[in-house]
Amino acid sequence: MRELFKDKEHLVRVAALAVAGFLVFLLAKARLVPAGFGAYGHFRAGALDDNRARPLVFAGRQAGADCHEDIVKARHGSKHAAIGCETCHGPLEKHAADPSALTPERPDQRDLCLGCHHENAARPAFIRQVNPQDHGEPGPCTACHKAHHPEMEEPAPAAGAVVGTAADPHGAPPAQPAQEVKQ
Ligand code: HEC
Ligand code: HEC
Ligand code: HEC
Repeated sequence: MRELFKDKEHLVRVAALAVAGFLVFLLAKARLVPAGFGAYGHFRAGALDDNRARPLVFAGRQAGADCHEDIVKARHGSKHAAIGCETCHGPLEKHAADPSALTPERPDQRDLCLGCHHENAARPAFIRQVNPQDHGEPGPCTACHKAHHPEMEEPAPAAGAVVGTAADPHGAPPAQPAQEVKQ
């Protein structure tokens, strides 16, 4: 037996290293794992309070509707009615809490629209897409579409079709060639 362990020194060194490593691990764990970790699961219990303490930046849909009845009416029946005010107008909790404290900026009336409607193969097909090069005119989309109720009555123009001017959004129909009346 003694013969078997005569060269035990290297084993002792490895064991000492392992023990030292384990002690370092325990020390690091005690210092680095935040208090409350694991109380309710694999997260820090105090994170819930921290999140609750953060200031609100979004007022929510109801706040917009409470004060802007006219806009709610304007949006009625539109596909845009499902989109929250703050999706387009940005976070406005400060404005909702005290309208005089913050006057919302008017959203960009082209970039904003194209952010959701620019032709893009990766976009879900239910969102109508346009190529701004051959749709409408350069300039604000709101020259023809109302931001809060953008629907037009006419059917969608064919790809590449020119759809009128801001003054006359639907454009004049192309002149019809006179038809020969056969008797
Ligand atoms: C799809 C984007 C979008 C949504 C959703 C939206 N808005 Fe707007 N809103 C706009 C744009 C763009 C303008 C600027 C229109 C313009 O200048 O013609 C605007 C203008 C306004 C104005 C100024 C109107 C004026 O005549 O000066 C108010 C007030 C307003 N929005 C409130 C709201 C409220 C309240 C909601 C939610 C009930 C809402 N908006 C939802 C895009 C949006
Ligand atoms: C947050 C994304 C978003 C923004 C920003 C946005 N839209 Fe829309 N829009 C939608 C969704 C979703 C629909 C409903 C699906 C559809 O018909 O494309 C829609 C519908 C439409 C429609 C089609 C209505 C119909 O005939 O069915 C038009 C036109 C339109 N939007 C124009 C605009 C214009 C102009 C702006 C900028 C003032 C704008 N949108 C901003 C998401 C957006
Ligand atoms: C010169 C007027 C004009 C301008 C400017 C204009 N549009 Fe249109 N738009 C129309 C007409 C007309 C239709 C056809 C009516 C319809 O499809 O409901 C239309 C339809 C649409 C549709 C629905 C397309 C479909 O497949 O049904 C979307 C989305 C749209 N426009 C977004 C925009 C965006 C975004 C801008 C700004 C980059 C814009 N429009 C600028 C006149 C205009």
